[in-house]
Amino acid sequence: MYSFVTFLAALPCVLSLLTPRQAVDYVNPNLNGGSMLDNAGDGFGEPLNVIISALSSPDVLTLDGFENFANAIGFSTTCLGIQLGGPQSANLGDGNGFVNQTVELRQDFGSSALGTCLESLIGGNHLRVFIQNGPSADTGALFLAVSQEEDLEEAHTIVPNGYNIGRDALSLAAIGTTSANGVTYSTVGTNVTGLLAPGSAGVNHDIATDGITTVLTITIV
Ligand SMILES: *[C@@H]1O[C@H](CO)[C@@H](O)[C@H](O)[C@H]1NC(C)=O
Ligand SMILES: *[C@@H]1O[C@H](CO)[C@@H](O)[C@H](O)[C@H]1NC(C)=O
Repeated sequence: MYSFVTFLAALPCVLSLLTPRQAVDYVNPNLNGGSMLDNAGDGFGEPLNVIISALSSPDVLTLDGFENFANAIGFSTTCLGIQLGGPQSANLGDGNGFVNQTVELRQDFGSSALGTCLESLIGGNHLRVFIQNGPSADTGALFLAVSQEEDLEEAHTIVPNGYNIGRDALSLAAIGTTSANGVTYSTVGTNVTGLLAPGSAGVNHDIATDGITTVLTITIV
């Protein structure tokens, strides 16, 4: 009897060795001390308003794989590798605490080499990527802070309603069939409420949001 109980107690560990990633879209960061607002370093945060589901094709959830998908929807790494401003960090409730963004991408206006420099000058869509991969929620989902930016004259702040606008523009570009560098993606999106509070409490630049997070599931076809 005792050894059977011990066996049962050990079973979750055994299973977790067999299935290292949890077969879920994502785990709600709020459930385990995390937040759907990142830390912008000024006491406020940007909403994590798009999630790339962990049920997407595994390659899309790698850094290179996501950057290729981002190319397909008109984003590239920041202008000549130059990053304006410091990195932001997020706590995704996965046991890792606050971790800096993995990468920051900007709308490239059709030129992956120089377009993001243009974005830096004239404004455009912009995203930061955070990975949910800590020991207590190792889903592999990507949490994105997406925002539509002003031009450089406005010192790269966010346009009015820029979080909702950035999220919807990215989703619109992503949903359906897209391709880059010989890889074709089929993407579906659903809106989720209850992760982010609507309004502007704690939100950087005091810009209110509608509280919607769009979950994208990207499949390589
Ligand atoms: C994020 O990066 C900055 C600059 O490299 C560093 O000073 C800071 O400690 C990092 N924050 C976290 C949470 O790792
Ligand atoms: C999510 O909600 C926004 C705001 O209502 C809407 O514009 C967008 O089309 C919705 N996206 C999806 C995938 O349903």
